[in-house]
Amino acid sequence: MSLENSWIFPVFESIHVIGLAAFVGTIVLEDLRTLGLKIADTSHLKIWTHTGLALMLITGAVMFLSDTTRYLHNPAFDVKITLLVLALIAHFTLHRRGTRFAASLSLALWTCVVLAARAIADFDA
Ligand code: HEM
Repeated sequence: MSLENSWIFPVFESIHVIGLAAFVGTIVLEDLRTLGLKIADTSHLKIWTHTGLALMLITGAVMFLSDTTRYLHNPAFDVKITLLVLALIAHFTLHRRGTRFAASLSLALWTCVVLAARAIADFDA
C-alpha cells in the first residue's frame, strides 16, 4: 500500500506528531512534577495521554504498512520499536508507582524513542 506522491503520508505523520505532543507531552509534565518541579496537578490530563497514544499507534501502523520493506530494513526503526515496547511496559507498570526512579526512567526512555524515530529518515538503506 504505497502512499508515495500522496498527501496521505504527510497527513498521517502530522497526526502522529500531534499524538506525540499529547502523549509524550503529558507524560513529561507528570514526570517533571514527580521530580519536584513546580507543576500543577496533571492527573486530569490522562485523557490526553491515552488519546495521544491511540493516535500514535493507529497512524504509526498505517505509515509502517505503507512501506514495510523500507522500515524493516531501517536500523533506526528497529531501535525505535524496541525502545517503544520497553517504554510502554515501563509506563503501564513501574511508572504507576510515581517514584523519582520511574519518572527518570520514563523521561530517558521516551527521549530515546523520539530520537530513534527522528533518525528513521537518515538511516534508509
Ligand atoms: C507510541 C509512541 C510513539 C512515539 C513517541 C513515536 C514517535 C515518532 C516520531 C518523533 C517520529 C518522527 C516524526 C517526524 O520526523 O516528523 C515518528 C515517525 C514515525 N513513526 Fe512513530 N512513534 C510512536 C509509535 C509508533 C508506532 C507504534 C509505529 C508503527 C508501528 C510508528 C511508526 C512510525 C513511522 C513509520 C514513522 C515515519 C518515519 C519516517 O518515514 O521518517 N510509530 N514516530
